[in-house]
Amino acid sequence: MSRLSITAYTFGIIFFLVSCSFAGFYGYKVVTHHLPKEEKKIEKYNYHFMLVPEELDNEYWRLVEKGARAAAKDYHIMLEYVGPKQANIEDHLKTIEMSAASKVDGIMTQGLSDEQFTPLINRVVEKGIPVITVDTDAANSKRIAYIGTDNYYSGFLAGKALIADTKGQANVAIITGSFIKNHQIQRVKGFRDAVMAEKGIQIVDVEESEISRVKAAEKAYKILQDHPEVNAFFGTSALDGIGIAQVVEKYNKQDQVYIVGFDTLPETINYMRKGTIKATVVQEPFEMGYKAVKMMIDLIEGQKVPPIVHTDTRILRVGDLPVSNQDRLGVNR
Ligand code: BGC
Repeated sequence: MSRLSITAYTFGIIFFLVSCSFAGFYGYKVVTHHLPKEEKKIEKYNYHFMLVPEELDNEYWRLVEKGARAAAKDYHIMLEYVGPKQANIEDHLKTIEMSAASKVDGIMTQGLSDEQFTPLINRVVEKGIPVITVDTDAANSKRIAYIGTDNYYSGFLAGKALIADTKGQANVAIITGSFIKNHQIQRVKGFRDAVMAEKGIQIVDVEESEISRVKAAEKAYKILQDHPEVNAFFGTSALDGIGIAQVVEKYNKQDQVYIVGFDTLPETINYMRKGTIKATVVQEPFEMGYKAVKMMIDLIEGQKVPPIVHTDTRILRVGDLPVSNQDRLGVNR
């Protein structure tokens, strides 16, 4: 064999051996390689709850939802937040009915009126689905518990604030979310009782806003036209004070007209910073949502829950700003 052929032959063998080892190595890798498994993370929830508010996109209700979602995360609950886009009793009732039909573990909702909500809540509870009322109670129903503001007392506080701030001299108009909903009726009643003995305070008119800021503004405008003597307003739901403030500013009456509103939505706080709304009734929507979920778990797990849990309510005045616990109240959003 010539030298050249020996060299070529040797290279050939080396090349063959190297190729074989590469083939062996990578072949082995392919066979033993762990192919990425499709990691399907199936969330395990303990229970499935529904939260049904009277108005889905209302900022107040978004805070209740925020609290409920925080608790749902802490306790592994599947939480659905469903309800009418704009306040509508029929849609609200239908949503409760559908939630019950889908056999959820618990429903949290308002007890808006005895006539329509009590029979439905009773049917749902009799079917074995616990109902907790939140924000508004249907006290005569079979709901297991209520968590929310003492609505009568909150109206009473508003009345006392108005007396103090107007030195007991005012012609008052009330704009209320609804004439037929329990929480609104109680807030007006509490207010009336608070001012009843005050000789210098007259309630001149009471109008309904249907939980709408635009309607609240329309009613405020009409009141100022029909009753020029009105120099104080009480708005009994979250958007009423805002609607009233809009009109009062438009007619540049901030210095003549006193407004006490409800809740601490960012717009309300802005009107307070400008001095247009003088005081507001603070509720705790985040706490309501959080505690409602926790209560529902407790009662499903056989613990005793109190039938009524009142969350805190108090008056906030311009001088108290900035508010503490801003995030939970929704002021900072
Ligand atoms: C009430 C809620 C209501 C909201 C309307 C709040 O003051 O507590 O029940 O839906 O106002 O804007």
